[in-house]
Formats: sequence, C-alpha cells, structure tokens
Amino acid sequence: MKPKLIAPSVLAADFANLQRDIEMINSSEADWFHIDIMDGVFVPNISFGMPVLQAIQKHAKKTIDVHLMIVEPDRYIKEFAALGANNLTVHYEASTHLHRTLQAIKAEGMKAGVAINPHTRVNLLEDVIKDIDLVCIMSVNPGFGGQSFIENTYSKIQRLKEIIVNNNATTLIEIDGGVTSENAAQLVKAYADVLVAGSFVFKAEDQPGTIKELKELANK
Ligand code: DX5
Ligand code: ZN
Repeated sequence: MKPKLIAPSVLAADFANLQRDIEMINSSEADWFHIDIMDGVFVPNISFGMPVLQAIQKHAKKTIDVHLMIVEPDRYIKEFAALGANNLTVHYEASTHLHRTLQAIKAEGMKAGVAINPHTRVNLLEDVIKDIDLVCIMSVNPGFGGQSFIENTYSKIQRLKEIIVNNNATTLIEIDGGVTSENAAQLVKAYADVLVAGSFVFKAEDQPGTIKELKELANK
C-alpha cells in the first residue's frame, strides 16, 4: 500500500518564527506543507498572500500544497505556479467552470485539487474525477484552524473512494480540519490518503514528535 501522507498546516505556525517552524517541518516526518490562502470573501477570514508564500517557499524543502479559499481562483493560477506551488486546490463552491480551471492548473505543471465544503456532496465530482489529482474533503467549515472535526466526514470519504475506484481514477483523498491522533487511524481506515493537521501539530509541546505520531497512526 502507498504510504499515507501528513501535511502540517502552516496557518497554525508562529508567524513571528516562520522560518523556525518551516525548518521544523523540513526535518520532521511530514510529507507536505499545507498552505491556506483565505480572501475574506469566500471565507470569513483573511490568512496571508503571495509575499508570505514566497517566504515559505524559500525555505520549504517538501511538496507545497496550496489550498485556495478564495473567489475567482482562476485569476491567480499562473502566479501560484510561479511561487512554487506543487499542488493547487480550488474550492468546488468557488468554481463556475471547474473543468477548465483544472486544465489550467495542470497546464502550469501543478497537480490539480478540488476542495469541498462539509455541505457539498462528493457525487458532484463524479464527472470530473479523472481530471482531479486530489480531493480535499473539508472536515470543518473552512476559514479557521482549531475547530472540531465533523463526524459525517467518514461516510463522505467512503462514497468518494467508491467514485474513484469505479472510474479507475488515481485521485488522492485529503482530509482538512480537526485532525488529531484520535481520528487519524480511523480516517485512513476510511480511505484517506493525506491528513492535514494544523493546531494539533503546532499546539503540541513536541511538534516533530506529534507529526511522527500522526504518521505512524496513519501507516499502521
Ligand atoms: C481551515 C483550513 C485548514 C486549517 C486546519 O479552513 O483549511 O487547513 O488550517 O486547521 P486544524 O488542523 O487546526 O483544524
Ligand atoms: Zn486547508
């Protein structure tokens, strides 16, 4: 079986010590950097923009997984590619022409991701599943770190997995929001491939140890 991946969410890092926290992820067992970009329109919060991503990219030595919580994501695809994003995920709810957006992301050499809010049915992705490298199932309402995990996520993962298998697709399933050592093993059992974790990692006293713990739980 392919190893399950851990993606610490930089949103929960200490921005006054960003380089330190990036180096911590570099030397940990984490697989990806998860970068949340929020515009204050699609979600009721503003995170950070291009200059901060540029600073992160300068030090990050692992896959950069960018999660756009913004309206009109198409406007910024080229810019995120130039900033070194490896995966670019747009929200289903913010994309009028999702198929075109996915092609545009791939044309820039990035993996194309689609994130879905807790209320969005996974079946809506069926007709484009072959074009999606990564589906990010939001297990909290997007906008803030530190929220509690929505239990309905497990059945969404299973339904999405069925769609992936039935279509012979290779799409990865990423879970974002409220991931802890309490649910990591069960999420992977329900067919999650990538676990994003923000506050659980950065609030921990032993951050690399917490990443290692998640990695082990996910790959048991
Ligand atoms: C929420 C973001 C998440 C967030 C997860 O809108 O997309 O990536 O950082 O944070 P935790 O792990 O604290 O729920
Ligand atoms: Zn995210």
